[in-house]
Amino acid sequence: MINKKNIKEILNSINIIEIINNYITLKNKGSNYIALCPFHNEKNPSFTVNQEKQFYYCFGCKTSGNVINFLTNFLKINFLEAIKILSKNKQSIIYKKPRIIKKKKINKIEILNLINIAKHFFMKQLFLSKNALIYLKNRKISYKIIKKFNIGYAKNKWNLLYKEFLKYKFLNFLDSTLIIKNNINNYYYDRFRGRIIFPIKNIHGQTIGFGGRTIKNDKIKYLNSPKTEIFEKKNILYGLYEVKKKIQKKNYVLVTEGYIDVLTLYQSGFKNTVAVLGSTCTLIHIKKLLQQTKNIIFCFDGDEAGKLATINTLKVCLKIKIDKKIIKFIFLPNGYDPDTFIKKFGSEKFKILIKNSIPFSKFLINIIIGNNNINNFQDCIKIKLKAKEILRKMQGSLLKIQIIKFIKNILSLKNINF
Ligand code: CTP
Ligand code: MN
Repeated sequence: MINKKNIKEILNSINIIEIINNYITLKNKGSNYIALCPFHNEKNPSFTVNQEKQFYYCFGCKTSGNVINFLTNFLKINFLEAIKILSKNKQSIIYKKPRIIKKKKINKIEILNLINIAKHFFMKQLFLSKNALIYLKNRKISYKIIKKFNIGYAKNKWNLLYKEFLKYKFLNFLDSTLIIKNNINNYYYDRFRGRIIFPIKNIHGQTIGFGGRTIKNDKIKYLNSPKTEIFEKKNILYGLYEVKKKIQKKNYVLVTEGYIDVLTLYQSGFKNTVAVLGSTCTLIHIKKLLQQTKNIIFCFDGDEAGKLATINTLKVCLKIKIDKKIIKFIFLPNGYDPDTFIKKFGSEKFKILIKNSIPFSKFLINIIIGNNNINNFQDCIKIKLKAKEILRKMQGSLLKIQIIKFIKNILSLKNINF
């Protein structure tokens, strides 16, 4: 009997490296194994097998897959025949699980040092790059803002930062994630090229990563440092270090989605603004903000993703102790983000949005009632179910008691118990 579980078990008990090595000769290279590709003609090896992922990939002909795909393609056999071969191998090399490559401990201080060197390098490059300066000018980002947020530029060259790093004695510049190694030809190249660079800092002001916006219409508009021990989107708020004093002074914070939103709002006098880098606001984000102020106003983009992010954020807020906190939401007109809204309508209009922002409780009740008609019995049942589902997740609070009262009142119109 072959079922999914069996196949998984077989795959878990064999090592792709050993199987493929039965057919072609693999050479160890870093965390990969390489060989001349058996699926196309070539002089230099571009066929790679990754032990950790148990996967092969050819940079030449782009074929890829797991060990089963390899056998079916290489031996021109069908799936069942491949499984048979593997289960035989399983007996001979049973539980020779792939050696788990132990993650080596990274040296945080050294990495922070490298990131800091990179930050200064990018800042210097910006003032040598007319295109980048023109781009920022067109986006109305002033010199003062550039300085305050340490904005930089990575030129559209392959390895300028790499060469810069070579001037220093650090060996593990790969750990900084700013340099990438091509495992085939062993060349090193820079992650960020042709991008405006936004340094992202932790609350202490240490730069822990970067966001980069293309200025040459790259398909990928924003590129960020990848997730590491020191850089995790789920606990980073762009701008928090730079504006935390303003947040404390104004005693509220505006939370947006993007880098440029933070900069434009700052420039327009709303200096107490941060961004969540994309659109997932986590409990960690909210807790960090609550350490600065008890008043949060969320202002995500006026597109579908932004609306969804707002609803998700509301749900995250259910988990906090809400009494004594003031959480509000701004809904931008369709198609606008804070940056484009301010540029189109001005900061006075944005002040009105802040003034009219929707309180947590009102938004929550709106979500519970949805499009349902409170005069319709069927609809009231739907409201009851939705209320149960949502309020179950809400932390106990005086506000919760009030909301329950409110829903009870609505349902009592139709004699429904809640
Ligand atoms: N973002 C990100 N990583 C991505 C995409 C987006 O970190 N892969 C974050 C960035 O902080 C970006 C924000 O999400 O500023 C908003 O993204 P998006 O709406 O796509 O960008 P725009 O606001 O339209 O960007 P711009 O104004 O620069 O055109
Ligand atoms: Mn924008």
